[in-house]
Order: sequence, then C-alpha cells, then structure tokens
Amino acid sequence: MPVAADAPIGIFDSGVGGLSVLRHIRIDMPHEHLLYFADSAYAPYGERSEAEIVERTLTIAQFLLAQGAKALVVACNTATAAAISALRIHYPWLIVVGIEPGLKPAAQQSRSRQVGVLATRATLASARFIALHDQLSAATGVRFHNAACIGLVDQIEQGALSAAPTAQLLQGHLKTLLAQQIDTLVLGCTHYPFVQPLIEESLRNLGAPEIGIIDTGVAVSRQLTRRI
Ligand code: DGL
Repeated sequence: MPVAADAPIGIFDSGVGGLSVLRHIRIDMPHEHLLYFADSAYAPYGERSEAEIVERTLTIAQFLLAQGAKALVVACNTATAAAISALRIHYPWLIVVGIEPGLKPAAQQSRSRQVGVLATRATLASARFIALHDQLSAATGVRFHNAACIGLVDQIEQGALSAAPTAQLLQGHLKTLLAQQIDTLVLGCTHYPFVQPLIEESLRNLGAPEIGIIDTGVAVSRQLTRRI
C-alpha cells in the first residue's frame, strides 16, 4: 500500500513507558513525524488478561492507522508478548516493530550466569516470554530469575520516580535477585528506564553498584531504522 514519506510512525504503550523508546527513535530518526498514543485509561496492562491486551492493541492500531501511520511501534513488552502476532495477522503489509526483554544480550554479558529480569506479571506469564526464556537457558546455561514488579508501573504513571514507596518496592525485588548472585539486570518493561536512577541507587545501597543494566529501547529504534 503506497504511503506518503512524511506519514507519521505510530508508537504506543499503556502509558508513559513507551516514551523511553520514543526518545531513542527521536535521536536516530530526527526527521520522522512521531505519533504517540498512551493508553492511560487502561494502564497497567501487566495486570490485564491476554484477551484484553489483544483487544486494546488492535483498537489502538486501528486508530493510529486511521491517523495515517506508516509503521507501528509496540513500545510495550506486555503488549508485544500478548498481541504482536495478532497485529501481524491483521496487518500483514504493515511494518510492525515490538519490544522484548533483553534476555539475549544479558546472557551474553553475564559472567556469573545468573540474570535478573524485572517485568510485568503478564509479560512473565506469556507464552512468548516463556519460550524465549526456556530456549535461551537451554542454549546458554544462564539462569534467569524473574521478578513481577506489581505496582511499579502505577508508581511511574503517577510520576513517583524517587518516592519512598517506589524505592521500597524496588529494593525488595533487588535484594531477592542479588541473593541469587545476579550480575546483570534486564529492564523488561518500557516504564522501568524512568526509575533506572533509583534502581542504581538501590543497588549501591545494597552493596552491588557493578550490576549491568539492560534496556532494549535502543535496539527497537535500530530495528525500526532498518525497516523504514
Ligand atoms: N510499559 C509496558 C511494558 O513494557 C506496560 C506496563 C503495564 O502497563 O503494565 O510492559
């Protein structure tokens, strides 16, 4: 289907999280028009059923396409896990780029062979994540320790990026993961880069400032650049 070169790229997430991906796209593709949709009324997706996430994703895609979008970025790990296949089936001609937790780069980087993964409950429970997880653990021998950060997206949506309850929530998960000897931590939700300073502070307080942090927002932008 022919589209105008100046048609926008549609980007969406359940809320502000996708902006952590958009900032990389803005740098890599400064001349592109970007149209961002935050589905705040339905956030967090991580506590919704797969059917609900698929329904929201298809509705938003339809809206963005009606606005003339020439490509779609699913800037949400949870929506990618639940709905990217449905999206590709509905729009086989469309450029669709999604985001997945960076298990592969983490496995390559980890020396202790123990990797922590912070993500939403829905992402961790998805068939797509479990398949990736099982395949990589079998292929590399790396163990992934998953933490469903329930409540963290709400804190970030409220802008509580350095509030005490946000710090406590993170500290609890990080303590558990550090007890497993992790040396690499995957940010498996696009909201989480906004609390990376707080994560780094918690790691310092827990005596583990050297933990490597993986965010796949840059990889999504590179993939989009290749596809456009
Ligand atoms: N930012 C999303 C993700 O990457 C969704 C978080 C949510 O709404 O629960 O998973």
